[in-house]
Amino acid sequence: MDKKRLEKYKVDLKKQFASIENVEQLNDLKITYMGKKGIIPALYSQMRDVDASEKKTFGELINDLKNTFNDGFNEIKDLLEKKKIESLIANETIDVTLPATKIKMGSPHILEKLIEELESLFISMGYDVIEGPEVESDYYNFELLNLPIGHPARDAQDTFYITDEMLMRSQTSPVQVRTMLANKEKTSIRIVCPGKTYRRDNDDATHSHQFTQMEGLLIDKKISLADLKGTLDIIAKKLYGNDRETRFRPSFYPFTEPSVEFDISCFNCGKTGCHICKQTGWITVAGAGMVHPNVLNGCGYDAEKYTGFAFGFGVERLAMLKYGINDIRVFYTNDLRTLSQFARRDGDENDD
Ligand code: DAH
Repeated sequence: MDKKRLEKYKVDLKKQFASIENVEQLNDLKITYMGKKGIIPALYSQMRDVDASEKKTFGELINDLKNTFNDGFNEIKDLLEKKKIESLIANETIDVTLPATKIKMGSPHILEKLIEELESLFISMGYDVIEGPEVESDYYNFELLNLPIGHPARDAQDTFYITDEMLMRSQTSPVQVRTMLANKEKTSIRIVCPGKTYRRDNDDATHSHQFTQMEGLLIDKKISLADLKGTLDIIAKKLYGNDRETRFRPSFYPFTEPSVEFDISCFNCGKTGCHICKQTGWITVAGAGMVHPNVLNGCGYDAEKYTGFAFGFGVERLAMLKYGINDIRVFYTNDLRTLSQFARRDGDENDD
């Protein structure tokens, strides 16, 4: 063993450290120097042959070489790890200025949207939302609504019969009957009932064999026509704005007495008369009235004690008014170009 050789090892080692570029090279170097058959273990085993007087000097030189190796190794390892992390971070940097991926949002059907809006208005006034069956019995759809077999007013609702007794409901009014009958204590009632209704109409711009109604029923003590008028007026103003005018015209329905038609001033012409309001300046959106005593009594309510009002909105009419749609078929052809124009909330952009 000689001193010069040992010093040369150190110089070589430093040179090799300087040329290391990656972890693999560093590990190879470790095997060369520290591995079982590596330079440093070999030097230690050669110490056996070194003269006792020189053992200390050589021992120190080998230890120094080993320390140089360990220090260099750790330093370079840290450096390489740091570099690796830095490059990872650089590669994973998110460019926040890039345009985001658009998430396509569905939107509710126009009628569904309007029904939800009506429901929340009525709920805020203390009403419950009730649904009833679309396949209905003649008894609930007509009989208990003061429309016995042979009554001429049945003709106005050209009905799809399934059997002599069963039919596709021609109105949502049977849900009134069902609710009154189901209320065994015969206490007050405040409900709205949205749903599909069916009539044997030929489809055109203003008729559809399947359409939507929202029925309302309020039963309590001392209810008058003024309550009905106030309620419908508030709903119209909430839906269409405070400057929208409303009016009530006398009418006839077998299940109400007196009966009225509820009109809203035309959205299109502002009451001067146009093709949409048929030159009248008004559009009828609901039939309504004071619940007929025969209906109350037939459903177990004492008409001497209880009075009430009922109404039936045509939901398509309301939607046509609100959104300026002039063909009822728009609601049923499910054209995405139409539907996607309606966001969940008015004023929101539809994400399309
Ligand atoms: N059911 C009626 C129709 O389809 C609308 C209606 C009128 C409902 C008066 C009512 C009412 O509850 O009181 O034409």
